[in-house]
Amino acid sequence: MPRKKKAVLADAKQFQPGIDSAVKFLVGATNGILYRHLIGKLTSYTIPELRLHSGGGKRFLDIGCSWGRWSVAAARLGYQPVGIDPSLGAVLAARRVCLELGLKADFVVGDARFLPFADQTFDTTFSYSTMQHFSRQDALIYLAEIGRVLKPGGESLNQMPNTFGIRCLYHQVMRKFRSPVHFEVRYWTVPELQRAFSSSIGPSQFSVDCFFGIGLQAADAHLMSKKTSAPYSNVGIPP
Ligand SMILES: C[S@@+](CC[C@H](N)C(=O)[O-])C[C@H]1O[C@@H](n2cnc3c(N)ncnc32)[C@H](O)[C@@H]1O
Repeated sequence: MPRKKKAVLADAKQFQPGIDSAVKFLVGATNGILYRHLIGKLTSYTIPELRLHSGGGKRFLDIGCSWGRWSVAAARLGYQPVGIDPSLGAVLAARRVCLELGLKADFVVGDARFLPFADQTFDTTFSYSTMQHFSRQDALIYLAEIGRVLKPGGESLNQMPNTFGIRCLYHQVMRKFRSPVHFEVRYWTVPELQRAFSSSIGPSQFSVDCFFGIGLQAADAHLMSKKTSAPYSNVGIPP
């Protein structure tokens, strides 16, 4: 059994109230390297601030939701979230977290490239640290799926690393600009993103999400280890 699974089970056996055992170990994978020191030691859920207006009961799709931190943020803003992720373990953790926090959200095991929803189902789609792991071909299929499930006039907010972000350049240099493989992060230029988003979804705007490490959220600043901080920039794309 992989080491991480053993650690999750050992933690769960201690029956301590508080943070879900799976989330304690998923946090490194979902939140990025600046959260690595929290793996197995998380004492509060890292719930980011969603850069959207109040939901007013609108249907919100969280694509690649993992343990559901963005779905939690959406539910707290008044959206009706549905999270989707291919990992059953992550989806079950998301359900437990929402139950524990008294929030209503639904979670589905599935693939962003083949969304199991009817056309025009969602008012808002969202993804964070998900599309960045897709090949160009898969990313284009994924964007077409967003365009399909969004209602007319809906909005889509997506995080993507920028080829020319300082920390992004550092990572590309470290891997000698070779083509990414497996789950490695893909970097796109802003014009490339602009073309892909505009043709699949509609007019797109860009804004910076964070500077100091992939996925670093202001709401978690108190949890950051100074030792691991480094400049970085991501591109968020509001509609
Ligand atoms: C780096 S994590 C980010 C999780 C979450 N969005 C967050 O920010 O906390 C990437 C997530 O994408 C999910 N994922 C991988 N392939 C996927 C696919 N084809 N469709 C949807 N999600 C996928 C993984 O299971 C994982 O939970």
